[in-house]
Amino acid sequence: MRKIILTGDRPTGCLHIGHYAGSLKNRVKFQESGLYDTFIMIADHQALTDHAKNPALIRKSVFEVALDYLAVGIDPSQSTILIQSQIPELHELTMLFLNLVTVSRLSRNPTVKTEIKQKQFGDSIPAGFLIYPVSQAADITAFKATTVPVGSDQLPMIEQTKELVRSFNQAYGEVLTEPEALLPNSEKEGRLVGLDGKSKMSKSLGNAIFLSDEADEIQKKIMGMFTDPNHIRVEDPGQVAGNPVFDYLEAFCSDKEVLEGLKAHYQRGGLGDMKVKRYLNEILQAELEPIRARRKMFEKDPVYIQEVLRAGTETARSKVAETLTEVRQAIGLDYFR
Ligand code: TRP
Repeated sequence: MRKIILTGDRPTGCLHIGHYAGSLKNRVKFQESGLYDTFIMIADHQALTDHAKNPALIRKSVFEVALDYLAVGIDPSQSTILIQSQIPELHELTMLFLNLVTVSRLSRNPTVKTEIKQKQFGDSIPAGFLIYPVSQAADITAFKATTVPVGSDQLPMIEQTKELVRSFNQAYGEVLTEPEALLPNSEKEGRLVGLDGKSKMSKSLGNAIFLSDEADEIQKKIMGMFTDPNHIRVEDPGQVAGNPVFDYLEAFCSDKEVLEGLKAHYQRGGLGDMKVKRYLNEILQAELEPIRARRKMFEKDPVYIQEVLRAGTETARSKVAETLTEVRQAIGLDYFR
């Protein structure tokens, strides 16, 4: 049986190099391997679970994220790009899943717990936000995805999906497929740290380099990056661990020998931060320049983007509709046969 991948992103802005290192690059590799049917979801309903009052941002970001996908080399003739909200069957399955999970189980989901803290919801957690793992489980299972590439922070989502599949299949018969998580090669790759070295790169924390950033912006951001605060004079020995400049080199520098040399030199002392940053700048500029150029090209053709999204969503919907027909039959909701 052919393997099916489902991946996706919440459209709350443009995508950054953390997305690129952690997932976009791998999606292009999956595409090139020819081993999978790949569906890439722009999860606009999920984005609304914590941006309900700002739908204009989500609408605009759907287009931006689509541009980012095409810019990095996702080919719509090989991978299906779709918009979540345009597939009502996903929400039908979410509704059915909600009866198979308890409120206390949802409140214990570690990913959601962390996000609730970050977003400072306090006692005002939107119910839609609390249940988004159920909606994500519906996304995954409606496509009968076998494989979900995720960072380790998303593992609780896959665990919850598996539980839902098991209770669904137990209650109504073997209809749904248990997905497997596919983790990135290294933790660093999966969770690129922000420019400030403090937390994961994210738009909301203002510590990101975006795929759409201009060359001078990228340079400015790199030159302002956090490094080892105790590495004051060039001759001082420096720390590589917890130093985001080296984390980025780890993620983007393909010449591992040069990188090992740099690390040793930095740790020994005698290598200045500016020099390392300039090297990182060179590497990132080379990597991002063609992506930015393709992005600009696609940006000029909104009709094409619209068509990619429309056609992808249509293909995706027919796949999901098949699953939902089986689901309704299994539960006995097929009244008008
Ligand atoms: N939760 C993902 C994010 O935070 C987006 C997403 C929605 C997703 N549905 C998915 C990812 C299904 C993988 C599979 O960006």
